[in-house]
Amino acid sequence: MQTLWDERYALRTDNIGSSAIRELLKLTSLPDVISFAGGLPAPEVFPIEQFKEAADVVLTEMGDRALQYGTTEGYQPLREMIARNAAKYGIQITADNVLITTGSQQALDLLGRIFINRGDRVLVESPTYLGAIQAWNAYGVKYVTIPFDDDGMRTDMLEARLRTGIKFIYVLPNFQNPTGVTLSRARRIQLIEMADAYGVPIVEDDPYGQLRYEGDHLPPLVVLDDEMRAKEVPIYSGNVIYTSTFSKILAPGLRLAWVVAPVEVIKKLVQAKQGCDLHTSTLTQYLAYEVANTPWMKSHIHMIRRVYRERRDVMIKALEENMPEGVQWTHPKGGLFLWATLPKGMDSGAIFEDAVEAKVAFVPGASFHPLGGGENTMRLNFSNSKPEMIREGIKRLAKVIKANLK
Ligand SMILES: Cc1ncc(COP(=O)(O)O)c(C=O)c1O
Repeated sequence: MQTLWDERYALRTDNIGSSAIRELLKLTSLPDVISFAGGLPAPEVFPIEQFKEAADVVLTEMGDRALQYGTTEGYQPLREMIARNAAKYGIQITADNVLITTGSQQALDLLGRIFINRGDRVLVESPTYLGAIQAWNAYGVKYVTIPFDDDGMRTDMLEARLRTGIKFIYVLPNFQNPTGVTLSRARRIQLIEMADAYGVPIVEDDPYGQLRYEGDHLPPLVVLDDEMRAKEVPIYSGNVIYTSTFSKILAPGLRLAWVVAPVEVIKKLVQAKQGCDLHTSTLTQYLAYEVANTPWMKSHIHMIRRVYRERRDVMIKALEENMPEGVQWTHPKGGLFLWATLPKGMDSGAIFEDAVEAKVAFVPGASFHPLGGGENTMRLNFSNSKPEMIREGIKRLAKVIKANLK
């Protein structure tokens, strides 16, 4: 129904619907529904005791600063810690290359603000992260999509797209959301070289990089990009803007993340952020620093990997045991999701209601395709359900799919 308010909203709101995921999550929080829909970490791995202790230390010893306004760039020791950790991977950055943001979601929004003019073309994987689509729609973006296979983005199809004029490339190299696939090393190098040749920057979104359950670590694009450049300038000034988050290794409720980029890009982002929220919560930054800047952090990440690896394995086994012929799924080496493909002609959106009635939920894959398609796909999250729930949920889902196959 049209109301008077509809006449009043700015034009940019024409492109911002409510996120399909947020709407679905409402349904999936109904009692007894086993939800593979959200991208939620397991609450069992939240370090509640560590935060209790940190809160005591921070408020007792530095409450006057932790409760005060801070700088837009972020809490200096936290920025330095991130720069130190990055240096371990071989990239030369300082705290000046780091901006603390209110979740990676804010980083994506700020990048839209500083780069996207109405009608600009942004290259994304199809499917891609829904939150990025939602953030950039408000800036009047036009998407150009590129398909994926088991090695991630199809870089053999990149050049034709880059020739059409692309503002930036958005890529999730590790355990992609929603597909779970990882960009191979060879393709990482190809992507960097081609982006460089065409003068197109890369936005690298890496919330799951530390959550690898098998195989060798692959360097982030930002590190490879740095390595591949002549080092006349000692501090990173390359072509990649990298973002990661504390959401999956500490807790998403912190709303705490960071961007690594050339200093001049950080300065521009800082100006954009000032108008948004002045700065990310000072208290949260102090707490996270207190918790994360300890030897304990490494063991914590190991523990999360152990828990999620088991859940991934349980889900894959349950799929193998229950799914009818013709249903396929990816084998993610890390992260939180796997991606299932139903036989051609089936529509996962159309069976969603049946699934919720059977008390199991997923996200229909079409929502992750900015230009349409993917109706026969779905995203399944394995981090947020305990193993016995995963087994039961996949049984329920297989039953719904079998019933709809007939
Ligand atoms: C690919 C990707 N980018 C960004 C985010 C947002 O993370 P944050 O909680 O830091 O806003 C997520 C969250 O699931 C994600 O999967």
